[in-house]
Amino acid sequence: MDTRLVLAVVLVALAWMSAGTNKMAVEAMSANSTNGNMTNGNMTNGNMTSGNMTAGHNMTNPNMTNPNMTSGNMTGGQNMTNTTSPNPPGPLTTNTTVEILETTVNRSECRKTRLCVATPENCDPATPDSCLFVSFKSAGGQNFAFELSGETEGYIACTISTDSNLGGNDNTYVCANNNGIVKFIPALLNDDKLTETNLSVNSVKGKVNGTKVQCTFDATVPDPTARASARFAIGVSNGTYNSSTGKLGPPEIKIQTNPVNLANPNATVTNQVNGTAANTTTPPAATTASTTAGHAIALQQSLSQALLIIMGVLGLAML
Ligand SMILES: *[C@@H]1O[C@H](CO)[C@@H](O)[C@H](O)[C@H]1NC(C)=O
Ligand SMILES: *[C@@H]1O[C@H](CO)[C@@H](O)[C@H](O)[C@H]1NC(C)=O
Ligand SMILES: *[C@@H]1O[C@H](CO)[C@@H](O)[C@H](O)[C@H]1NC(C)=O
Ligand SMILES: *[C@@H]1O[C@H](CO)[C@@H](O)[C@H](O)[C@H]1NC(C)=O
Ligand SMILES: *[C@@H]1O[C@H](CO)[C@@H](O)[C@H](O)[C@H]1NC(C)=O
Ligand SMILES: *[C@@H]1O[C@H](CO)[C@@H](O)[C@H](O)[C@H]1NC(C)=O
Ligand SMILES: *[C@@H]1O[C@H](CO)[C@@H](O)[C@H](O)[C@H]1NC(C)=O
Ligand SMILES: *[C@@H]1O[C@H](CO)[C@@H](O)[C@H](O)[C@H]1NC(C)=O
Ligand SMILES: *[C@@H]1O[C@H](CO)[C@@H](O)[C@H](O)[C@H]1NC(C)=O
Ligand SMILES: *[C@@H]1O[C@H](CO)[C@@H](O)[C@H](O)[C@H]1NC(C)=O
Ligand SMILES: *[C@@H]1O[C@H](CO)[C@@H](O)[C@H](O)[C@H]1NC(C)=O
Ligand SMILES: *[C@@H]1O[C@H](CO)[C@@H](O)[C@H](O)[C@H]1NC(C)=O
Repeated sequence: MDTRLVLAVVLVALAWMSAGTNKMAVEAMSANSTNGNMTNGNMTNGNMTSGNMTAGHNMTNPNMTNPNMTSGNMTGGQNMTNTTSPNPPGPLTTNTTVEILETTVNRSECRKTRLCVATPENCDPATPDSCLFVSFKSAGGQNFAFELSGETEGYIACTISTDSNLGGNDNTYVCANNNGIVKFIPALLNDDKLTETNLSVNSVKGKVNGTKVQCTFDATVPDPTARASARFAIGVSNGTYNSSTGKLGPPEIKIQTNPVNLANPNATVTNQVNGTAANTTTPPAATTASTTAGHAIALQQSLSQALLIIMGVLGLAML
């Protein structure tokens, strides 16, 4: 009898303590600073949605949605005073001098840091197999690092169009086999005519091995006016080059894409020349596991409280 009494009292006490702990946690959580300036004090568990934090405070678990700190934990003593982001870089200074490309253009950065487009689909320009390939990596602002590779008797070229059609005065970057050495020719594509011009390009590197030409360069692409992001139709072609006259033959267009954001390594690209996807995206699987787990824990806590209370009541009843 005595043992039962002791057991019952312990169980009832446990039930109350358990409920009390959660109640305290809820009260602490509801004390969120939502709009204010924190100049003196420690914020250990709250959401700061608006205001400035000036110096020397430690925030161990804050959610700050505004100002300027959108994600991350501030753990100790930092000052949030420098909130301006650096300006994007401007247009590149033109220099079309070609240095020897010591590396081989390959697929290793595709979908990681580079948007890649190729025909045949997913071919690797590092292999001896026939492969026409272009890739882009954002270098800030309207600047992009290009890689171009393909087989040709003359030149390979990449055209960037601000509309969905190739050939309306579109920037074209030509790498020609000039007696075994790459010559870089910036040009405009009008219908099927290439006319040499001045484009904002530098850091050109290139190499020739038989009919395989590879080149890399940095270029400033046109500002896409009235567009949310830099979307361009991409064209890749090859053609003849007369090294004594410098004449470029009409481009044989092997790749023509839908307008894509060059800065997105996972952009969905369709080659409209043969209608196959050149770089398809697998949508990420939706993850609901974490929220489900959160609910499960809450449910488990309520259940264990209920169980403790029931056991306490039962214990009392048995007396
Ligand atoms: C925060 O500081 C600004 C300027 O220092 C002041 O105008 C504003 O009233 C302050 N807000 C609060 C909630 O103290
Ligand atoms: C902030 O925390 C420190 C160290 O834990 C403490 O000494 C100080 O009194 C706290 N300040 C306030 C305003 O709670
Ligand atoms: C604080 O953030 C938590 C987690 O994001 C959220 O559940 C809670 O509703 C927020 N509180 C306020 C007052 O915004
Ligand atoms: C935060 O600081 C900025 C720049 O100093 C100021 O314009 C703004 O009013 C401040 N906000 C608050 C809530 O004090
Ligand atoms: C912030 O801290 C929490 C708890 O320590 C941790 O789970 C979370 O990953 C942290 N977030 C970042 C962006 O460091
Ligand atoms: C802030 O964190 C640092 C490092 O963790 C610690 O040395 C300092 O005492 C803390 N300051 C306050 C006010 O809690
Ligand atoms: C933060 O600002 C205070 C006051 O302006 C200054 O004394 C302190 O050195 C600053 N701390 C850091 C990490 O910049
Ligand atoms: C902000 O930080 C950047 C990079 O750290 C620096 O270049 C810039 O001068 C800073 N701006 C101010 C106003 O301190
Ligand atoms: C152009 O680039 C080449 C190779 O990088 C370099 O040697 C040359 O000095 C550059 N010319 C100018 C005018 O900057
Ligand atoms: C692109 O998607 C793949 C999976 O489809 C993923 O592993 C990769 O991290 C993504 N890359 C970027 C830059 O989002
Ligand atoms: C040229 O290509 C052939 C086969 O495609 C390869 O065996 C050879 O090593 C390459 N030469 C150079 C200098 O890269
Ligand atoms: C362009 O590439 C194709 C292979 O895709 C090749 O058959 C053709 O001869 C090339 N054109 C020139 C002018 O080299």
